[in-house]
Amino acid sequence: MEPRQHISTIWTGSAASLTEEERDLLRRAHDAAKGAYAPYSGFQVGAAARLSNGQVVPGCNQENAAFPSGLCAERAAVFAAGSLFPGVSIECLAVVTPSPHASLEEFSPCGGCRQVLWESQQRQDKPFRMLLQVGEGPVCRVDGVENYLPFAFGAKGLGKAAGMP
Ligand code: THU
Repeated sequence: MEPRQHISTIWTGSAASLTEEERDLLRRAHDAAKGAYAPYSGFQVGAAARLSNGQVVPGCNQENAAFPSGLCAERAAVFAAGSLFPGVSIECLAVVTPSPHASLEEFSPCGGCRQVLWESQQRQDKPFRMLLQVGEGPVCRVDGVENYLPFAFGAKGLGKAAGMP
């Protein structure tokens, strides 16, 4: 047997170490979290995607009494970005929660979001950065979705490129 190995890196540090543009994106994600519809979990999440055309697209979690029908904040933002600005790449995606019960170490995109984020990254010519923050605390920085989803399944796994019949 030959191993295939992957090293994932998640950086953690103070928001002060970020650029002004990155801190602004976190603020936009916090604003978006105010619109969350999370009556079932009580866990509000906001996201903001900065695109290569300079636009910032927000998203927040949207729950539903039929639980699986809801959507996470990051997927809401990425799908909105793809709807409003098709083909425009994502440069940075901030995801935040104001929840006082959350811990940064465990505040992390769910499996379904990782799959969607990975495909979004595959559709563009370079990886995008993610920033995660709980309240006004320290920030996690992830440079590329492959850090969250190694050995991912995608269009190549289907044996064809996306969009090809
Ligand atoms: N949630 C997100 O929106 N993003 C995450 O990264 C983690 C979880 C949402 C889904 C659900 O509405 C609530 O948080 C509790 O899981």
